[in-house]
Amino acid sequence: MSISGSAKLAGVLGWPVSHTLSPRLHGYWLEHYDIDGAYVPLPVRPENFSNAVRALGDLGFRGANVTVPHKETAFAAMDDVSDMAKTLRAINTIVIADDGTMFGDNTDGYGFMESLRAGAAGIELQDQPVVVLGAGGASRAIVAALLTDGAGEVRVFNRTLERAEALAKDIGGAVRPEPMSALAGAIADAALLVNTTSLGMIGHAPLEIDISALPSDAVVADIVYSPLETDLLKQARTQGHRVVDGLGMLLHQARPAFAAWFGIDPEVTPELRAAALVNQNVQ
Ligand code: ATR
Repeated sequence: MSISGSAKLAGVLGWPVSHTLSPRLHGYWLEHYDIDGAYVPLPVRPENFSNAVRALGDLGFRGANVTVPHKETAFAAMDDVSDMAKTLRAINTIVIADDGTMFGDNTDGYGFMESLRAGAAGIELQDQPVVVLGAGGASRAIVAALLTDGAGEVRVFNRTLERAEALAKDIGGAVRPEPMSALAGAIADAALLVNTTSLGMIGHAPLEIDISALPSDAVVADIVYSPLETDLLKQARTQGHRVVDGLGMLLHQARPAFAAWFGIDPEVTPELRAAALVNQNVQ
């Protein structure tokens, strides 16, 4: 790929940033759509973040993604933010206007919902109970998106109950914080079960839950994508549930940003999935 002197620029701010798949997936789209642009990793230490983010506009960047540990700090550095970003007080996407104004958005929940709709066509969550495992940043984005989409009640189970309670308070609406120990009794009427914890990821502890009480038409999703088929998804598939893996969320959250920076709403295709996984330790 060759870029010209007027190439459109974007990147991802994180620390560390070397593990991120974002340069690979945006790079795939840039090449696929033959766009004169570049997307680069931007390793920025926390203590340098405010200088670095303000410098992006001066350097001619159209914007950037923001990942761990900068999502909350970046929120506070924006000139304007989306309603979803306001709810979550964290952003993953910055779009810089020609006058240098910085707009922050959080597309993680959007990415999850798009991935869910693509992987479980016709899923109906309106007024339905949903079970979410975990209460970290990813959980917050997903819970907020589920409520926006009309889910009837979101039951949030977390090892640390206080964190689930804080999530419920911050996001508001029909969120019920629960301790992990109450899980078995709370899944029998769920339309969807989502794992947002790191359990089941390669190198992490396994997620040991029994989902045999789930209704047979319930969908099971995992945001872990390494491995692509987690033990949870394997168990769900064996029980006949439709399953949605974690890679789709990552790919779909990137679409609005790519469209804003590079002018094309890109497609999530099997080829993109394969390109994102090259040399990744996933199965
Ligand atoms: P992210 O921003 O990606 O969601 P996070 O904020 O670190 O990451 O959240 C990780 C989630 O995985 C949390 O819900 C965490 O539970 P706690 O809030 O109790 O820490 C959950 N998690 C991580 N390791 C866990 C473990 N060994 N057992 C149970 N839950 C675990």
